Amino acid sequence: MQAYRAALLRFDDQHRPLYDPDGLLVTAPDEWGVHTVRAAGAYGALIEQFPGLGVHDWRDRLIAPGFVDMHVHYPQTDVIGSPADGLLPWLEHYTFPHEARFSDPAYACGVAAFFFDELQRHGVTTALTFATSHPASVTAAFEAAQARGLRFITGKVLQDRNSPDGVRDETEQSLIDSETLLQRWHGVDRLGYAITPRFAPSCTPAQLRGAGELAARYPATWIQSHVAENRDEVRWAHELFPEAGSYLGVYGDFGLLRQRAVYAHCIHLSEDDRALMQRSGAVAAVCPTSNLFLGSGFFDYLAADAAGMGYGLASDVGGGTSFSPFKTMLAAYFVGREGQTKPGLSLQPSQLWWQHTAGAAHALGLKGVVGNLQPGNEADFVVLNPEATPLLARRTQQADSLEELLFALIVLGDERVVTQTFSAGLKAQALNRT
Ligand code: GUN
Ligand code: ZN
Repeated sequence: MQAYRAALLRFDDQHRPLYDPDGLLVTAPDEWGVHTVRAAGAYGALIEQFPGLGVHDWRDRLIAPGFVDMHVHYPQTDVIGSPADGLLPWLEHYTFPHEARFSDPAYACGVAAFFFDELQRHGVTTALTFATSHPASVTAAFEAAQARGLRFITGKVLQDRNSPDGVRDETEQSLIDSETLLQRWHGVDRLGYAITPRFAPSCTPAQLRGAGELAARYPATWIQSHVAENRDEVRWAHELFPEAGSYLGVYGDFGLLRQRAVYAHCIHLSEDDRALMQRSGAVAAVCPTSNLFLGSGFFDYLAADAAGMGYGLASDVGGGTSFSPFKTMLAAYFVGREGQTKPGLSLQPSQLWWQHTAGAAHALGLKGVVGNLQPGNEADFVVLNPEATPLLARRTQQADSLEELLFALIVLGDERVVTQTFSAGLKAQALNRT
Protein backbone atom coordinates (compact mmCIF):
# COMPACT_ATOMS: atom_id res chain seq x y z
CA MET A 1 0.00 0.00 0.00
CA GLN A 2 1.01 3.58 -0.56
CA ALA A 3 -0.41 6.60 1.21
CA TYR A 4 -0.10 10.33 0.63
CA ARG A 5 -1.11 13.20 2.89
CA ALA A 6 -1.90 16.34 0.90
CA ALA A 7 -4.74 18.61 -0.05
CA LEU A 8 -6.98 16.34 -2.12
CA LEU A 9 -9.36 17.09 -5.00
CA ARG A 10 -11.97 14.63 -6.25
CA PHE A 11 -15.43 14.89 -7.84
CA ASP A 12 -18.82 13.46 -6.93
CA ASP A 13 -21.31 12.01 -9.42
CA GLN A 14 -23.00 15.41 -9.84
CA HIS A 15 -19.69 16.87 -11.12
CA ARG A 16 -19.20 18.79 -7.87
CA PRO A 17 -15.70 19.08 -6.42
CA LEU A 18 -14.90 17.23 -3.21
CA TYR A 19 -12.04 18.95 -1.47
CA ASP A 20 -10.07 17.96 1.62
CA PRO A 21 -7.50 20.62 2.56
CA ASP A 22 -5.81 17.98 4.74
CA GLY A 23 -6.52 14.80 2.82
CA LEU A 24 -5.33 11.21 2.63
CA LEU A 25 -5.03 9.09 -0.52
CA VAL A 26 -4.34 5.37 -0.08
CA THR A 27 -3.57 3.13 -3.07
CA ALA A 28 -2.84 -0.57 -3.40
CA PRO A 29 -2.28 -2.95 -6.31
CA ASP A 30 -5.20 -4.92 -7.69
CA GLU A 31 -4.92 -8.49 -8.99
CA TRP A 32 -3.16 -7.26 -12.15
CA GLY A 33 -0.68 -5.11 -10.23
CA VAL A 34 -2.38 -1.84 -11.17
CA HIS A 35 -2.63 0.42 -8.13
CA THR A 36 -6.16 1.56 -7.46
CA VAL A 37 -7.55 3.96 -4.89
CA ARG A 38 -8.42 2.18 -1.62
CA ALA A 39 -9.36 5.24 0.39
CA ALA A 40 -9.61 8.97 -0.20
CA GLY A 41 -10.87 11.67 2.12
CA ALA A 42 -10.03 13.71 5.18
CA TYR A 43 -6.81 12.59 6.85
CA GLY A 44 -8.28 12.82 10.35
CA ALA A 45 -11.26 10.66 9.45
CA LEU A 46 -9.34 7.95 7.60
CA ILE A 47 -5.95 7.48 9.20
CA GLU A 48 -7.22 5.28 12.07
CA GLN A 49 -8.28 2.67 9.53
CA PHE A 50 -4.66 2.21 8.50
CA PRO A 51 -2.59 1.69 11.67
CA GLY A 52 1.13 1.60 11.05
CA LEU A 53 0.83 2.75 7.44
CA GLY A 54 3.77 4.83 6.24
CA VAL A 55 2.40 8.09 4.88
CA HIS A 56 4.23 10.29 2.41
CA ASP A 57 3.89 13.85 3.65
CA TRP A 58 2.93 16.24 0.88
CA ARG A 59 0.97 18.68 3.03
CA ASP A 60 2.08 21.69 0.96
CA ARG A 61 0.87 20.04 -2.23
CA LEU A 62 -2.47 19.39 -3.95
CA ILE A 63 -3.19 15.87 -5.20
CA ALA A 64 -5.72 15.79 -8.04
CA PRO A 65 -6.81 13.27 -10.68
CA GLY A 66 -4.46 12.90 -13.64
CA PHE A 67 -5.70 14.89 -16.61
CA VAL A 68 -7.48 13.17 -19.49
CA ASP A 69 -6.83 14.56 -22.98
CA MET A 70 -9.74 13.48 -25.19
CA HIS A 71 -8.13 14.34 -28.52
CA VAL A 72 -4.49 14.78 -29.42
CA HIS A 73 -2.28 13.84 -32.38
CA TYR A 74 1.04 12.45 -31.15
CA PRO A 75 2.59 12.71 -34.66
CA GLN A 76 1.87 16.44 -34.59
CA THR A 77 4.10 17.08 -31.58
CA ASP A 78 6.49 18.93 -33.91
CA VAL A 79 3.71 20.67 -35.86
CA ILE A 80 2.66 22.94 -32.95
CA GLY A 81 2.75 26.60 -33.88
CA SER A 82 2.57 26.20 -37.67
CA PRO A 83 0.61 29.23 -38.86
CA ALA A 84 -1.97 28.93 -41.64
CA ASP A 85 -5.10 30.68 -42.87
CA GLY A 86 -7.26 27.87 -41.58
CA LEU A 87 -7.66 24.13 -41.19
CA LEU A 88 -7.40 22.99 -44.82
CA PRO A 89 -4.21 24.92 -45.76
CA TRP A 90 -2.72 23.93 -42.41
CA LEU A 91 -3.31 20.25 -43.19
CA GLU A 92 -1.93 20.58 -46.72
CA HIS A 93 1.17 22.67 -46.00
CA TYR A 94 2.33 21.38 -42.62
CA THR A 95 0.48 18.40 -41.26
CA PHE A 96 0.29 15.92 -44.11
CA PRO A 97 3.93 16.40 -45.17
CA HIS A 98 5.04 15.98 -41.55
CA GLU A 99 2.91 12.89 -40.93
CA ALA A 100 4.46 11.24 -44.02
CA ARG A 101 7.65 10.87 -41.95
CA PHE A 102 5.93 8.32 -39.74
CA SER A 103 6.34 5.64 -42.40
CA ASP A 104 9.73 5.22 -40.69
CA PRO A 105 9.16 3.14 -37.52
CA ALA A 106 12.32 4.47 -35.85
CA TYR A 107 11.16 8.04 -36.36
CA ALA A 108 7.72 7.16 -34.95
CA CYS A 109 9.31 5.54 -31.86
CA GLY A 110 11.40 8.63 -31.19
CA VAL A 111 8.44 10.99 -31.38
CA ALA A 112 6.27 8.65 -29.29
CA ALA A 113 8.86 8.59 -26.48
CA PHE A 114 9.07 12.38 -26.49
CA PHE A 115 5.28 12.71 -26.63
CA PHE A 116 4.72 10.54 -23.53
CA ASP A 117 7.45 12.39 -21.63
CA GLU A 118 5.65 15.58 -22.51
CA LEU A 119 2.21 14.30 -21.45
CA GLN A 120 3.61 13.17 -18.11
CA ARG A 121 5.48 16.43 -17.52
CA HIS A 122 2.15 18.20 -17.96
CA GLY A 123 0.19 15.82 -15.73
CA VAL A 124 -1.78 14.10 -18.48
CA THR A 125 -2.24 10.42 -17.64
CA THR A 126 -4.76 9.26 -20.27
CA ALA A 127 -5.07 10.36 -23.90
CA LEU A 128 -7.20 9.41 -26.87
CA THR A 129 -4.67 9.94 -29.60
CA PHE A 130 -4.48 9.93 -33.36
CA ALA A 131 -1.50 8.08 -34.84
CA THR A 132 -0.90 8.39 -38.61
CA SER A 133 -2.04 6.21 -41.50
CA HIS A 134 1.10 4.06 -41.06
CA PRO A 135 0.50 0.94 -38.94
CA ALA A 136 4.01 1.28 -37.48
CA SER A 137 3.01 4.61 -35.94
CA VAL A 138 0.32 2.81 -33.95
CA THR A 139 2.68 0.09 -32.79
CA ALA A 140 5.23 2.70 -31.71
CA ALA A 141 2.67 4.52 -29.56
CA PHE A 142 1.20 1.38 -27.97
CA GLU A 143 4.63 -0.01 -27.12
CA ALA A 144 5.71 3.25 -25.50
CA ALA A 145 2.47 3.56 -23.51
CA GLN A 146 2.63 -0.06 -22.42
CA ALA A 147 6.19 0.33 -21.17
CA ARG A 148 5.02 3.25 -19.02
CA GLY A 149 1.92 1.45 -17.74
CA LEU A 150 -0.45 4.07 -19.13
CA ARG A 151 -4.14 3.91 -19.90
CA PHE A 152 -3.99 4.99 -23.48
CA ILE A 153 -6.05 4.75 -26.68
CA THR A 154 -4.95 5.18 -30.27
CA GLY A 155 -5.58 3.87 -33.77
CA LYS A 156 -4.44 3.87 -37.37
CA VAL A 157 -5.69 6.89 -39.29
CA LEU A 158 -7.93 6.03 -42.26
CA GLN A 159 -7.57 8.39 -45.23
CA ASP A 160 -7.91 6.84 -48.67
CA ARG A 161 -8.71 10.00 -50.67
CA ASN A 162 -8.04 13.73 -50.82
CA SER A 163 -4.71 13.03 -49.17
CA PRO A 164 -1.24 13.27 -50.71
CA ASP A 165 1.18 10.45 -51.44
CA GLY A 166 2.93 9.45 -48.26
CA VAL A 167 -0.15 9.53 -46.05
CA ARG A 168 -2.94 8.26 -48.32
CA ASP A 169 -3.81 4.62 -47.65
CA GLU A 170 -5.58 1.96 -49.67
CA THR A 171 -9.16 1.12 -48.79
CA GLU A 172 -9.08 -2.63 -48.33
CA GLN A 173 -5.61 -2.79 -46.80
CA SER A 174 -6.42 0.05 -44.38
CA LEU A 175 -9.29 -1.93 -42.94
CA ILE A 176 -7.23 -5.12 -42.70
CA ASP A 177 -4.47 -3.19 -40.93
CA SER A 178 -6.98 -1.63 -38.53
CA GLU A 179 -8.43 -4.99 -37.59
CA THR A 180 -4.99 -6.56 -37.14
CA LEU A 181 -3.88 -3.73 -34.84
CA LEU A 182 -7.17 -3.80 -32.96
CA GLN A 183 -6.88 -7.53 -32.32
CA ARG A 184 -3.26 -7.14 -31.23
CA TRP A 185 -3.73 -4.23 -28.83
CA HIS A 186 -7.30 -3.60 -27.71
CA GLY A 187 -7.68 -4.62 -24.06
CA VAL A 188 -4.01 -5.49 -23.60
CA ASP A 189 -2.89 -4.11 -20.23
CA ARG A 190 -4.41 -0.62 -20.05
CA LEU A 191 -4.54 -0.05 -23.81
CA GLY A 192 -7.52 0.47 -26.09
CA TYR A 193 -7.98 0.70 -29.85
CA ALA A 194 -9.80 3.53 -31.63
CA ILE A 195 -11.12 3.11 -35.18
CA THR A 196 -9.89 6.37 -36.70
CA PRO A 197 -11.36 7.75 -39.93
CA ARG A 198 -9.47 11.05 -40.20
CA PHE A 199 -12.56 13.01 -41.27
CA ALA A 200 -15.27 12.35 -43.84
CA PRO A 201 -13.60 14.39 -46.63
CA SER A 202 -10.49 12.18 -46.50
CA CYS A 203 -12.38 8.87 -46.60
CA THR A 204 -14.27 7.20 -49.43
CA PRO A 205 -17.74 5.86 -48.68
CA ALA A 206 -16.25 2.36 -48.92
CA GLN A 207 -13.67 3.16 -46.23
CA LEU A 208 -16.27 4.74 -43.94
CA ARG A 209 -18.54 1.72 -44.46
CA GLY A 210 -15.68 -0.62 -43.54
CA ALA A 211 -14.89 1.46 -40.46
CA GLY A 212 -18.54 1.30 -39.40
CA GLU A 213 -18.56 -2.48 -39.87
CA LEU A 214 -15.48 -2.80 -37.67
CA ALA A 215 -17.11 -0.56 -35.08
CA ALA A 216 -20.17 -2.82 -35.03
CA ARG A 217 -18.11 -6.01 -34.77
CA TYR A 218 -15.95 -4.61 -31.95
CA PRO A 219 -18.35 -2.55 -29.84
CA ALA A 220 -15.88 -2.09 -26.97
CA THR A 221 -13.45 -0.21 -29.19
CA TRP A 222 -13.47 3.54 -29.55
CA ILE A 223 -14.14 5.58 -32.69
CA GLN A 224 -12.42 8.93 -33.15
CA SER A 225 -12.71 11.50 -35.91
CA HIS A 226 -13.24 15.20 -36.58
CA VAL A 227 -16.47 17.01 -37.41
CA ALA A 228 -17.75 20.54 -38.05
CA GLU A 229 -14.48 22.25 -37.20
CA ASN A 230 -14.21 24.81 -39.97
CA ARG A 231 -16.68 26.37 -42.41
CA ASP A 232 -14.71 25.40 -45.54
CA GLU A 233 -14.44 21.84 -44.27
CA VAL A 234 -18.20 21.71 -43.62
CA ARG A 235 -18.92 22.99 -47.15
CA TRP A 236 -16.56 20.38 -48.61
CA ALA A 237 -18.21 17.56 -46.65
CA HIS A 238 -21.61 18.64 -48.03
CA GLU A 239 -20.22 18.58 -51.59
CA LEU A 240 -18.73 15.12 -51.14
CA PHE A 241 -21.78 13.63 -49.42
CA PRO A 242 -24.73 15.54 -50.92
CA GLU A 243 -27.22 12.87 -49.90
CA ALA A 244 -26.38 13.11 -46.18
CA GLY A 245 -28.63 15.13 -43.87
CA SER A 246 -25.59 16.94 -42.46
CA TYR A 247 -21.84 16.53 -42.08
CA LEU A 248 -22.36 14.76 -38.75
CA GLY A 249 -25.07 12.69 -40.42
CA VAL A 250 -22.44 11.19 -42.76
CA TYR A 251 -20.91 9.43 -39.77
CA GLY A 252 -24.35 8.29 -38.64
CA ASP A 253 -25.10 6.89 -42.10
CA PHE A 254 -21.99 4.69 -41.89
CA GLY A 255 -22.57 3.40 -38.34
CA LEU A 256 -19.94 5.64 -36.76
CA LEU A 257 -22.09 7.32 -34.13
CA ARG A 258 -22.36 5.27 -30.97
CA GLN A 259 -21.14 5.07 -27.39
CA ARG A 260 -17.36 5.53 -27.28
CA ALA A 261 -17.38 7.59 -30.50
CA VAL A 262 -15.46 10.82 -29.94
CA TYR A 263 -15.74 13.70 -32.41
CA ALA A 264 -13.26 16.53 -32.16
CA HIS A 265 -14.49 20.14 -32.39
CA CYS A 266 -18.31 19.94 -33.00
CA ILE A 267 -18.43 23.70 -33.59
CA HIS A 268 -20.67 24.22 -36.62
CA LEU A 269 -23.46 21.84 -35.59
CA SER A 270 -27.20 22.34 -35.88
CA GLU A 271 -29.69 21.63 -33.11
CA ASP A 272 -30.60 18.41 -34.94
CA ASP A 273 -26.93 17.42 -34.99
CA ARG A 274 -26.60 17.99 -31.25
CA ALA A 275 -29.73 15.93 -30.66
CA LEU A 276 -28.20 13.19 -32.81
CA MET A 277 -25.01 13.29 -30.72
CA GLN A 278 -27.07 12.95 -27.57
CA ARG A 279 -29.26 10.11 -28.91
CA SER A 280 -26.37 8.10 -30.28
CA GLY A 281 -24.12 8.46 -27.23
CA ALA A 282 -21.34 10.01 -29.32
CA VAL A 283 -19.44 12.80 -27.54
CA ALA A 284 -17.47 15.92 -28.38
CA ALA A 285 -13.81 16.57 -27.68
CA VAL A 286 -13.67 20.32 -27.09
CA CYS A 287 -10.37 21.74 -28.38
CA PRO A 288 -10.26 25.43 -27.46
CA THR A 289 -6.58 26.26 -28.08
CA SER A 290 -6.80 24.64 -31.51
CA ASN A 291 -10.04 26.41 -32.37
CA LEU A 292 -8.62 29.78 -31.39
CA PHE A 293 -5.28 29.14 -33.15
CA LEU A 294 -6.78 27.95 -36.45
CA GLY A 295 -9.65 30.45 -36.28
CA SER A 296 -12.16 27.62 -36.48
CA GLY A 297 -14.84 29.04 -34.18
CA PHE A 298 -16.17 28.46 -30.67
CA PHE A 299 -17.69 25.38 -29.07
CA ASP A 300 -21.20 26.30 -27.93
CA TYR A 301 -21.38 25.12 -24.31
CA LEU A 302 -24.92 26.34 -23.74
CA ALA A 303 -26.28 24.57 -26.80
CA ALA A 304 -24.38 21.38 -25.94
CA ASP A 305 -25.80 21.40 -22.41
CA ALA A 306 -29.29 22.15 -23.69
CA ALA A 307 -29.06 19.12 -25.99
CA GLY A 308 -27.63 16.96 -23.21
CA MET A 309 -24.67 15.81 -25.28
CA GLY A 310 -21.46 14.66 -23.63
CA TYR A 311 -18.13 16.38 -23.97
CA GLY A 312 -14.74 16.93 -22.38
CA LEU A 313 -11.56 18.89 -22.98
CA ALA A 314 -8.72 18.16 -25.34
CA SER A 315 -5.48 19.74 -26.50
CA ASP A 316 -5.67 18.77 -30.20
CA VAL A 317 -1.91 19.21 -30.47
CA GLY A 318 -0.62 20.15 -33.09
CA GLY A 319 -3.61 22.30 -34.16
CA GLY A 320 -3.74 22.99 -30.43
CA THR A 321 -0.94 25.10 -29.07
CA SER A 322 -0.03 23.34 -25.83
CA PHE A 323 0.06 20.00 -24.04
CA SER A 324 -0.76 21.86 -20.83
CA PRO A 325 -4.19 21.17 -19.34
CA PHE A 326 -3.91 24.56 -17.62
CA LYS A 327 -3.65 26.32 -20.99
CA THR A 328 -6.53 24.25 -22.37
CA MET A 329 -8.77 25.04 -19.39
CA LEU A 330 -7.95 28.74 -19.64
CA ALA A 331 -8.73 28.76 -23.38
CA ALA A 332 -12.04 27.00 -22.62
CA TYR A 333 -12.81 29.75 -20.12
CA PHE A 334 -12.14 32.40 -22.80
CA VAL A 335 -14.41 30.52 -25.22
CA GLY A 336 -17.13 30.60 -22.58
CA ARG A 337 -16.67 34.33 -22.01
CA GLU A 338 -16.72 35.47 -25.62
CA GLY A 339 -17.71 32.66 -27.96
CA GLN A 340 -21.26 31.84 -26.98
CA THR A 341 -24.47 32.76 -28.75
CA LYS A 342 -25.34 34.36 -25.42
CA PRO A 343 -21.99 35.85 -24.39
CA GLY A 344 -20.69 36.13 -20.88
CA LEU A 345 -20.78 32.52 -19.71
CA SER A 346 -18.45 32.13 -16.71
CA LEU A 347 -17.42 28.50 -16.58
CA GLN A 348 -16.56 27.66 -12.98
CA PRO A 349 -12.93 26.68 -12.40
CA SER A 350 -13.98 23.38 -10.83
CA GLN A 351 -16.19 22.68 -13.87
CA LEU A 352 -13.32 23.36 -16.26
CA TRP A 353 -11.21 21.01 -14.15
CA TRP A 354 -13.98 18.38 -14.22
CA GLN A 355 -14.14 18.64 -18.02
CA HIS A 356 -10.45 17.73 -18.21
CA THR A 357 -10.56 14.89 -15.63
CA ALA A 358 -13.67 13.05 -14.46
CA GLY A 359 -15.85 14.58 -17.17
CA ALA A 360 -13.49 13.61 -19.95
CA ALA A 361 -13.21 10.10 -18.51
CA HIS A 362 -17.01 9.89 -18.33
CA ALA A 363 -17.30 11.00 -21.96
CA LEU A 364 -14.78 8.32 -22.97
CA GLY A 365 -16.79 5.63 -21.18
CA LEU A 366 -14.08 5.39 -18.50
CA LYS A 367 -16.07 6.67 -15.52
CA GLY A 368 -14.92 4.86 -12.38
CA VAL A 369 -11.72 3.84 -14.15
CA VAL A 370 -9.67 7.03 -14.51
CA GLY A 371 -10.17 10.78 -14.13
CA ASN A 372 -11.16 10.69 -10.47
CA LEU A 373 -9.78 9.57 -7.12
CA GLN A 374 -12.76 7.80 -5.67
CA PRO A 375 -12.20 4.29 -4.26
CA GLY A 376 -11.82 1.80 -7.11
CA ASN A 377 -10.39 4.29 -9.59
CA GLU A 378 -7.02 3.47 -11.06
CA ALA A 379 -4.38 5.49 -9.20
CA ASP A 380 -3.55 8.02 -11.92
CA PHE A 381 -2.90 11.32 -10.20
CA VAL A 382 -0.85 14.48 -10.14
CA VAL A 383 0.92 16.18 -7.29
CA LEU A 384 0.64 19.93 -7.82
CA ASN A 385 2.61 22.73 -6.22
CA PRO A 386 0.37 25.78 -5.77
CA GLU A 387 3.47 27.86 -5.08
CA ALA A 388 5.52 26.73 -8.07
CA THR A 389 6.27 30.25 -9.29
CA PRO A 390 6.61 33.51 -7.34
CA LEU A 391 3.47 35.02 -8.83
CA LEU A 392 1.43 31.84 -8.39
CA ALA A 393 2.57 31.64 -4.76
CA ARG A 394 1.43 35.21 -4.07
CA ARG A 395 -1.91 34.56 -5.75
CA THR A 396 -2.69 31.17 -4.20
CA GLN A 397 -1.75 32.42 -0.72
CA GLN A 398 -4.57 34.92 -1.10
CA ALA A 399 -7.12 32.41 -2.37
CA ASP A 400 -10.13 32.23 -0.05
CA SER A 401 -11.90 29.26 -1.60
CA LEU A 402 -11.30 26.15 -3.67
CA GLU A 403 -12.65 27.93 -6.77
CA GLU A 404 -10.14 30.75 -6.28
CA LEU A 405 -7.30 28.28 -5.79
CA LEU A 406 -8.23 26.34 -8.94
CA PHE A 407 -8.67 29.52 -10.93
CA ALA A 408 -5.21 30.75 -9.93
CA LEU A 409 -3.74 27.45 -11.11
CA ILE A 410 -5.70 27.58 -14.39
CA VAL A 411 -4.71 31.17 -15.15
CA LEU A 412 -1.10 31.14 -13.93
CA GLY A 413 -0.16 27.45 -14.00
CA ASP A 414 1.95 25.44 -16.40
CA GLU A 415 4.12 22.33 -16.18
CA ARG A 416 6.18 23.88 -13.37
CA VAL A 417 3.17 23.26 -11.14
CA VAL A 418 3.33 19.50 -11.77
CA THR A 419 5.67 18.12 -9.11
CA GLN A 420 4.99 14.50 -9.99
CA THR A 421 2.70 12.41 -12.17
CA PHE A 422 1.63 8.93 -11.07
CA SER A 423 0.18 6.30 -13.39
CA ALA A 424 -1.38 3.23 -11.76
CA GLY A 425 0.38 4.24 -8.55
CA LEU A 426 3.82 4.43 -10.11
CA LYS A 427 5.85 7.59 -10.47
CA ALA A 428 6.39 8.66 -14.06
CA GLN A 429 10.00 8.52 -15.08
CA ALA A 430 10.42 12.14 -16.05
CA LEU A 431 12.94 11.36 -18.74
CA ASN A 432 13.14 14.83 -20.18
CA ARG A 433 13.24 16.75 -16.95
CA THR A 434 16.55 18.31 -16.05
N1 GUN B 1 -9.30 17.42 -39.59
C1 GUN B 1 -8.73 16.41 -40.28
N2 GUN B 1 -7.48 16.17 -39.85
C2 GUN B 1 -7.25 17.05 -38.86
C3 GUN B 1 -6.13 17.30 -38.01
O1 GUN B 1 -5.08 16.66 -38.08
N3 GUN B 1 -6.27 18.30 -37.10
C4 GUN B 1 -7.42 19.01 -36.98
N4 GUN B 1 -7.49 19.97 -36.06
N5 GUN B 1 -8.47 18.81 -37.77
C5 GUN B 1 -8.40 17.83 -38.69
ZN1 ZN C 1 -7.52 16.71 -34.29
